[in-house]
Amino acid sequence: MNKQQPTLLVTGGAGFIGANFITYYMEKYPNSYLLNIDKLTYAGSTANLSEVAPLPNYHFINGDITDEALVSEIFADFDITGVIHFAAESHVDRSIQDSKAFVETNVVGTLNLLQAAKRDWEKKDMLAERRFHHISTDEVYGSLGEQGKFSEDTPYDPRNPYSASKAGANMLVKSFGHTYGMNIVISSSSNNYGPRQHEEKLIPTIIKKALAGEPIPIYGDGQNVRDWIYVNDHCRAIDTIYHQGNSLETYNVGGSNEKTNIEIAEEICQILDKLAPEYRTRTSSDSFKDLITFTEDRKGHDRRYAVDDRKLRNELGWKPTEDLKTGLQNTVDWYVTQWKTHLTH
Ligand SMILES: NC(=O)c1ccc[n+]([C@@H]2O[C@H](COP(=O)([O-])OP(=O)(O)OC[C@H]3O[C@@H](n4cnc5c(N)ncnc54)[C@H](O)[C@@H]3O)[C@@H](O)[C@H]2O)c1
Repeated sequence: MNKQQPTLLVTGGAGFIGANFITYYMEKYPNSYLLNIDKLTYAGSTANLSEVAPLPNYHFINGDITDEALVSEIFADFDITGVIHFAAESHVDRSIQDSKAFVETNVVGTLNLLQAAKRDWEKKDMLAERRFHHISTDEVYGSLGEQGKFSEDTPYDPRNPYSASKAGANMLVKSFGHTYGMNIVISSSSNNYGPRQHEEKLIPTIIKKALAGEPIPIYGDGQNVRDWIYVNDHCRAIDTIYHQGNSLETYNVGGSNEKTNIEIAEEICQILDKLAPEYRTRTSSDSFKDLITFTEDRKGHDRRYAVDDRKLRNELGWKPTEDLKTGLQNTVDWYVTQWKTHLTH
């Protein structure tokens, strides 16, 4: 790759949303240069990037954003004209067991990137032009009762170490905007679903357990509500916010698809009943739904998340294109194909 070209730096691009984003971005902007830095933790895989890997204008660095020297070197070697920062430890359950990596990557890693970008862009007198886009989550706002939605002005009230580390990162990003005049933007999205997600997360877990004929674990009473967004709609939102969002602003991104966890599990089982009946076992002879099992609730389990994303819709003209029915169908199709390929190898 020609290192003198204006290059977008993406972090964490071998993970679920980052890999979908890079694939989307390189197809939409085929002449642009993109550098992806990812540590390839358990959550990242270069297999997620098979479509872009051969492109001459795509470059991958297997590296850690907490490595200050490496991050500085990237800014010295390449002409980084913008950053879209996905890299994070992202699984709430893991953060409850051990929070350290969450603070290191999500807070210290974000600070490293901010400092390196600031130094480089200040030197080039581009601090106000070049953009730092931080990918965040609606979980920073805490938990809702039965009514209401999070707006961009809802005060942060994180309830678990993952969301606390993301809120900390958001604060640092905002502070670099206010203190140094850096051109920063934050997007806070609701729960994503779609292809390439790690199997520890809810939707892949449901599909995998069902196909394996094992109990499908659902926390507590299954009534926790999440607002689901199809990952490609999120990628389009990031593209819109990165290119058109106003500096220092936060934009919420939602799917307008509020569902309880048990509703999600039941819908997936219904799709699987039609799509993969050959994997039903004696326990699931009527439906995969028979495998659903309630387990002890997650500690500090937030009851409901829902985001008000009218700012993004009204000011920047974005709206989601996938409804939950078609989005789930595509997603289940994708995982079943993966499952079948995996079994035949
Ligand atoms: N998945 C969701 O529903 C959701 C919702 C809202 C916001 N987000 C945010 O979006 C971003 C991406 O989430 P995801 O679901 O794709 O996560 P993911 O866990 O699938 O991917 C994270 C990626 O970051 C990489 N990474 C982790 N630590 C790193 C480090 N120190 N240096 C370099 N790379 C590192 C991992 O290898 C992995 O490829 C995160 O910032 C997350 O907080 C996710």
